[in-house]
Amino acid sequence: MSALNDEVNIYLTPGDPRRAEISQDPYPFYERLRAHDPVYRSDQSLWLITSWDEASQFAKEECFSRDPLALTPPAARAQAWESLPLATRVFLSGMMFRDDPEHARLRRLVHKAFTPARVRQSQASIEQTARDLLEPLRERETFDFVSEFAVHLPTQVICRVMGMSASTTEAFVRWTEGMLDIQEPGDHPESLLREADRKAQECLDAFTGIFAARRRQPTDDLISDLVAANAADDEPMTDEQLVGQCILLHTGGHETTAYVLANGVIAFDRFPGQRALVRSDPSLVPRAIEEILRYDSSGRQLYARTAVADVPIGDHVIPRGERVTAIIGAVNRDPRKFERPGVFDIMRPDAGRHLAFGAGPTFCAGAHLARAELETAFRLLSTQFPPLRVVDDEVAYIDTALKRAPERLTVAWDR
Ligand code: HEM
Repeated sequence: MSALNDEVNIYLTPGDPRRAEISQDPYPFYERLRAHDPVYRSDQSLWLITSWDEASQFAKEECFSRDPLALTPPAARAQAWESLPLATRVFLSGMMFRDDPEHARLRRLVHKAFTPARVRQSQASIEQTARDLLEPLRERETFDFVSEFAVHLPTQVICRVMGMSASTTEAFVRWTEGMLDIQEPGDHPESLLREADRKAQECLDAFTGIFAARRRQPTDDLISDLVAANAADDEPMTDEQLVGQCILLHTGGHETTAYVLANGVIAFDRFPGQRALVRSDPSLVPRAIEEILRYDSSGRQLYARTAVADVPIGDHVIPRGERVTAIIGAVNRDPRKFERPGVFDIMRPDAGRHLAFGAGPTFCAGAHLARAELETAFRLLSTQFPPLRVVDDEVAYIDTALKRAPERLTVAWDR
C-alpha cells in the first residue's frame, strides 16, 4: 500500500489520531494528492477531486446525485422514503439533498423569496449587528474571535432575515441538533432515533403554526415571502418540505460564514501587507473577500454525490454507484487555474473563480447574504477598529473532513 494511499485513508477516517496533523494544514496533502492523480479513487470507493476543471465539471454534471435514495428502483422509492425516520425525511427535504427536477422546483421557490433585494434590505441590520457585537470587544486586551464574534453574526442575521423570534430560534437549534444526530452514517440506538423523531415532530408542529400565522398575517421577512411564493405556485411544497428549506437556510450559513470570518483574520495576520492594503483603501474589501474564500474557505468538501451512470471525468470513468466529492481547498489552490496559489493576494485578477460556493445548478443559495455579512464585518474592522493580531502561537483547527475551522482564535487589537 502506498504512502499516499495510507494518507488518504487517514484523511477519510473520523477519529484517527493521525488525521489531526492533516487538519492542521491540509494543503501539502492536497498537493500530493493532485500531483499523483487529480481524480483519485480511495479504498472506500469514494473518489476525491482536487483539480479545478474536473471539480467544475463534477459540480455541474447531472449524472451525479445528492439523493441518498438515488439508486433505489423507482417502484420501491415511495416505500423506502416512508420507512425513513421522520427526522431524516424532514432533513432530506432540503433542496441540497434533492435532484432535478425536484431540486430545481424547490430552488426556484426559495429564490423567489430569498432575493438580492431582501439581502440589500437587511444591510443596515447586518451592520448594526456587527457593530453591537464588536463594540464591547474594543476595550478587551484579548478575546476569542470565533466564540465571541464570528459565530454570533451569521446566527443573529439569519434569524432576523427569516423573522424568527429568539425563543423560536432557541427551540429550533435544539430540534435541528437532535435531527442532525442521526444523519451521520452508521447504525443509531433506538432511543436516539425516537428522540430525533420527537424533535422533528415538535419542529414540524411549531413551523406549521408559524406558516399558518404568516398566511393569515404576512410580516416583512423571509418566512412570509417563502409562504406567499409557495401559495402562488402551481406545484407548492408541503409543510414538511417548507420546514426542510427553513432548516437548510437557517443552518447552512452559520458555521460556513463564521469560519470564513476567522480564516480571513488569520490570512490577514499572515500577510500583513494585504491587511495594510485594505485598510488604506476599503473599496478593496469585496476583492479581499473573494481571495479569502479562495485561499482558505471554511467548507472542505462539496456534498458527496453518487454516480447514477458511468461518468467520464478527467482520465477516469467513474462507475455507476460510486461516490464522488471535490475538495474545495485543493481545487481553489490548483496551480493550473491560479498563479502562486499558496499566496494570499487580494489583487489577483481571478480570485472570484474559486469554487468556495460550489458551481452550476447547486451554487450556494445564500452566497449573496454570506458576501454581505463578510464584507460588512471586514469593512467595519478595516475602517473603525485597530488591526487584529493573532495571539495564538499555533492556531488549533477542528479535526473533521468537512470543515476548515479554527477551534478558537485568540486575537488582540494592535493599537
Ligand atoms: C461563506 C459562507 C458559505 C459558504 C462557504 C457556503 C458554501 C456552500 C457550498 C459549497 C454549497 C454547494 C454544495 C454542493 O453543491 O454540494 C452551498 C449550497 C447551499 N448553501 Fe451555502 N455557503 C455559505 C453560506 C450560506 C448561507 C448564508 C446560506 C443561507 C442563508 C446558505 C445556504 C445554502 C443552500 C440553501 C445551499 C443549497 C443550494 C442548492 O442545493 O441548490 N449558504 N453552500
